[in-house]
Amino acid sequence: MARHDHPIFTLLYRALVKVEDAGPVGRVRTEVGGALFGKLLIVGLGPGEDLHHLPAAVTEVVAIEPSASMRHAARAAVAEAEENGIPVELIDAVGEDLPLPDDSVDSVLFAYVLCSVDDPDAVIAEVRRVLKPGGVVAMLEHVAGRPGSWIRRWQTLVSPVWPFLAGGCHCDRDTRAVLERGGFDTAGVEDFAVAALGPVGAGIKGVALLAEPPAAGREASPEDRDRGR
Ligand SMILES: C[S@@+](CC[C@H](N)C(=O)[O-])C[C@H]1O[C@@H](n2cnc3c(N)ncnc32)[C@H](O)[C@@H]1O
Repeated sequence: MARHDHPIFTLLYRALVKVEDAGPVGRVRTEVGGALFGKLLIVGLGPGEDLHHLPAAVTEVVAIEPSASMRHAARAAVAEAEENGIPVELIDAVGEDLPLPDDSVDSVLFAYVLCSVDDPDAVIAEVRRVLKPGGVVAMLEHVAGRPGSWIRRWQTLVSPVWPFLAGGCHCDRDTRAVLERGGFDTAGVEDFAVAALGPVGAGIKGVALLAEPPAAGREASPEDRDRGR
């Protein structure tokens, strides 16, 4: 999908994740990845760094990646995962229109991708469709900083140009709210610092679960509403 291909960003990002992976971000990838199991959907595989952080409980991977240069950059990581006994199907598609049947994956990983998709609400709706009951969504995302924070000021300043500099990324998305609107319980998602300052300084990490609808005959409680039920 040519519109999604940013070859210069791919080159820069590929080098950046290699450096990042040796530090705290790599540890967070491993921590978040620990929740994944069974047939895993990775939305926005990028250069494939997440494939280095999968637990043994993952049996196969379906990876969605609309950028040809990113798919090319991911070849070595895909080959390595397959050598380690994890089949990887890498598909040219977008998260807003997943070429997968309903209830067909056990777990889903978002790593720095909900910032880049065109329509995060549509992606979450698709993930909800394909995720089996009892499935998990693990994530590591940079998000909008708290109102009034330095990070938020940075984001307000650079947001008009950021997508052009960073391969379509939006630095100020409220991704937790998107998950909750889409019917996910985010009690297992926590804030963390991606970097000390800068437009990508605020992050969320953890696991979201499909929220149970309120039981029939019972009004949604304030707690239910707070949790997006
Ligand atoms: C910042 S990179 C992150 C890659 C990888 N997940 C990681 O953690 O390093 C964002 C990726 O999302 C992909 N992407 C952009 N729009 C997308 C969409 N609508 N659906 C799926 N992936 C998308 C981009 O091509 C890019 O590879």
